[in-house]
Amino acid sequence: MENELSDPTARHRFVRGLPDLSALLSEAAEFRSRRRRPFVVLSYAQSVDGSIAGRRRERIRLSGAESMHLTYSIRARCDVILVGIGTILADDPRLTVKQVDGPHPHPVVLDTRLRTPPAARLLQRPDVRPWLIHAPAAPPERIRRLSRSGADPMPCSAASDGRIDLPALMQALAERAVNSVMVEGGARVITSFLRQRLADVVIVTISPQLVGGLPVIDPGESDRTLDLHIDHPFYQTLGRDLVIWGRPRWTAA
Ligand SMILES: NC(=O)c1ccc[n+]([C@@H]2O[C@H](COP(=O)([O-])OP(=O)(O)OC[C@H]3O[C@@H](n4cnc5c(N)ncnc54)[C@H](OP(=O)(O)O)[C@@H]3O)[C@@H](O)[C@H]2O)c1
Repeated sequence: MENELSDPTARHRFVRGLPDLSALLSEAAEFRSRRRRPFVVLSYAQSVDGSIAGRRRERIRLSGAESMHLTYSIRARCDVILVGIGTILADDPRLTVKQVDGPHPHPVVLDTRLRTPPAARLLQRPDVRPWLIHAPAAPPERIRRLSRSGADPMPCSAASDGRIDLPALMQALAERAVNSVMVEGGARVITSFLRQRLADVVIVTISPQLVGGLPVIDPGESDRTLDLHIDHPFYQTLGRDLVIWGRPRWTAA
């Protein structure tokens, strides 16, 4: 897969906070037509020891108020916000921009077998029908029940591991005129996107705590080392948190 940074004009596009991110996102439509996939912003919060949740994959509070505000600001700049079914089951999020001005991104959930509970808070939102991305073999009665409950189940081909084929999904989102996707988590989803080299900007909030919880790069996901560097990183303190911004560069496998 071609790396965005192999494009000489893109190589020098640094990301030094929200204004630079906004500038990149303003060109996301052109990016989509050139690459036939949306521009992907990977953004999550972790502890100093790299945990994004507790040991049993349960939600923990990591971001302070200032970095939470940043997260909402990033959401408001992207067309779609994407999480895995593990995050829906653990956090029951609504995936809105909360106190920030701007549109809510369209919610997308990777949910191979359609395990999203019909009572999930995301499905109670009156403003949107979340896209639940499922494999073609998902049970038809779950498709019907979730459609009645406020969701739009959307079939997508499965990869060899049985889960959603991310390049195929990115192409499908591009065909639906989605220019930008914010990937928020959880660990399995972040790991999959990074393994597929599907990230154009990485924004990591580091909370000054050690948790001993769920590592962001899920060790159960692969036996290969992930050799990813953040190019020309920009460091920003927000409240008690440190935020690292940058563009990913993978070493050749
Ligand atoms: N700190 C943060 O910024 C942050 C952000 C978000 C979430 N979290 C935390 O992360 C935890 C959940 O993480 P998690 O790893 O258990 O779950 P997850 O990454 O949210 O969801 C993983 C599930 O998504 C489904 N999936 C479908 N296609 C996939 C693909 N191509 N790649 C990966 N997953 C795919 C799989 O379930 P099926 O096979 O059943 O479809 C998979 O088990 C929660 O505790 C949540 O609080 C933290």
